[in-house]
Amino acid sequence: MSNPSEAELIHKFKGISFTTRSSPELLNSLDAFDAREDDVLLVSYPKSGTHWLAGVITKLYKTPVTLTNPIELGDMSKLEELNQLSSKRIIPTHLDYNMLPQHFKNKKCKMIYIIRNPKDTAVSMYHYYKENPNLPTVDTWTAFLDLFLEGDVVCGSWFDHFLSWEEHKNDKNIMFLFYEDMKKNLPKVVKEISIFLAISISDEDIQDICKKLSFSEMKRDAEKENSDPSHTVCALTSNKKLIFRKGTVGDWKNHFTPKQNLRFDEVLSEKMKFSKM
Ligand code: A3P
Repeated sequence: MSNPSEAELIHKFKGISFTTRSSPELLNSLDAFDAREDDVLLVSYPKSGTHWLAGVITKLYKTPVTLTNPIELGDMSKLEELNQLSSKRIIPTHLDYNMLPQHFKNKKCKMIYIIRNPKDTAVSMYHYYKENPNLPTVDTWTAFLDLFLEGDVVCGSWFDHFLSWEEHKNDKNIMFLFYEDMKKNLPKVVKEISIFLAISISDEDIQDICKKLSFSEMKRDAEKENSDPSHTVCALTSNKKLIFRKGTVGDWKNHFTPKQNLRFDEVLSEKMKFSKM
């Protein structure tokens, strides 16, 4: 069987590339989505540590919560499916702020945005493109980097995604956190998340949670599971085994040539010239 064509895998909505796993009808109807005040949104550009953060959040709650699959994944039945859930909902999304359903904004739902060094994000995404049958084929790292810098990848430009959220950095219901800080001191970040979510938890329990969230532990767990769409919080795959690759900071240094690094830095400083973060 031949590989699916790019048109079978990808479509554009409002200028942003989505996989065909997100139907245009659903994307067009997101504003009809009925948010609840206690919904928690887990927001990221792909490959920023979404699954890791999902692990933290779900382990922090002692009351029943449902980690849904991403809001933008699926077809029109999605809205009803999420409506039917009776427990508290933890809802992941890769949407930029402008596309986020309006009701989440009106109801001031808590949202956590995880950011990762865009160079490591690009490298992680390159490997994901190579392994993931839901994404178009890329020939080389160099070709992929061009697409990434142009924003011609799934979920659009990293820079635009980040900037759309950064505009809301002073909103009290939005917390920003960094993948690199989680790597440096996970218990500290978990504590900050617990305070933001108003969950009281002892330091011992935080230590226990962190042990279960090490890269090796999470990778092992993923390898035990069968593929099931409800097991991933990324709209681009149902196969959790594709998520846990290396889990390190600075892998970009193994991929970027000095020239590519210089070019990336130029684009970064141009795009980020008004950014405060
Ligand atoms: P790498 O490809 O660099 O290894 P997402 O969940 O948003 O798809 O992000 C996936 C990235 O987060 C992958 O990066 C993955 O290895 C990393 N990751 C997942 N769990 C992790 C953990 N417990 N510790 C560190 N990194 C983790």
